[in-house]
Amino acid sequence: MGNALLPAVVGHRGAAAAAPENTLESLRLAAEQGAAMVEFDVKLTADGALILMHDEELDRTTTGHGAVAATVLADIRGLDAGGWFADAWRGARVPTLDETVGLLEKCGLNANIEIKPCPGREVETAAAVVACLRQSWPKGRPWPLLSSFARDSLAVARDAAPEIPRGLLLWGKPADWSAAARSLDCASVHCAAEDMTPEWAAEIGRLGYGLAVYTVNDVALAARLRRWGVDSIITDDPAALLGAAAARD
Ligand code: G3P
Ligand code: MG
Repeated sequence: MGNALLPAVVGHRGAAAAAPENTLESLRLAAEQGAAMVEFDVKLTADGALILMHDEELDRTTTGHGAVAATVLADIRGLDAGGWFADAWRGARVPTLDETVGLLEKCGLNANIEIKPCPGREVETAAAVVACLRQSWPKGRPWPLLSSFARDSLAVARDAAPEIPRGLLLWGKPADWSAAARSLDCASVHCAAEDMTPEWAAEIGRLGYGLAVYTVNDVALAARLRRWGVDSIITDDPAALLGAAAARD
């Protein structure tokens, strides 16, 4: 299974079970483990730079403190983004989206770029991601898949770059999920594993959307989801899932 847009296994924040999430080191490791695609989170710094970071605050994954949205890139670049995970990763930095695009090309990785705006920055974050991709994405490479929980971000991406595929990220099963996927002209729907059922997977397939499910690190659960018709398993542990024949293509 899998489809043209979504491979069977996608590395979540790179290979987040084995390396500090959302760093170049983590993305590179996912490629070394055999992942064809990686997911990572992108947000804006105080001075409008796009960086890879999940949380709104710097504290959990770096040596910094406080809000990403209140901190300039130069200060974020001075932080360590690896030591919190393990001593061996000390020295890892917070990457920019620009340098990440370079690494993706070098490693031959496809990407699911999650637009993860700090609250109130939905429009500017999506506009900046599209501008960055227009500038830096290598000609001739398939576009990355842009996903977001922020519908305002997806709407900006749809209007500014309709040719870049979009995925609607869902938490739970909101009543308007299919209306939203349709109006945002999404190619895929990305659901939490705990919300997925065989019936919902079948419905998403019938409507013609790709289906990705996050975040699944258990091989048996991944295999079950794949039997239900899930195209893509987003996992912290691509090595384990790629090693399990039942969970991959
Ligand atoms: O894109 C899938 C997944 O990453 C969404 O949730 O919080 O891990 O970014 P989160
Ligand atoms: Mg994410």
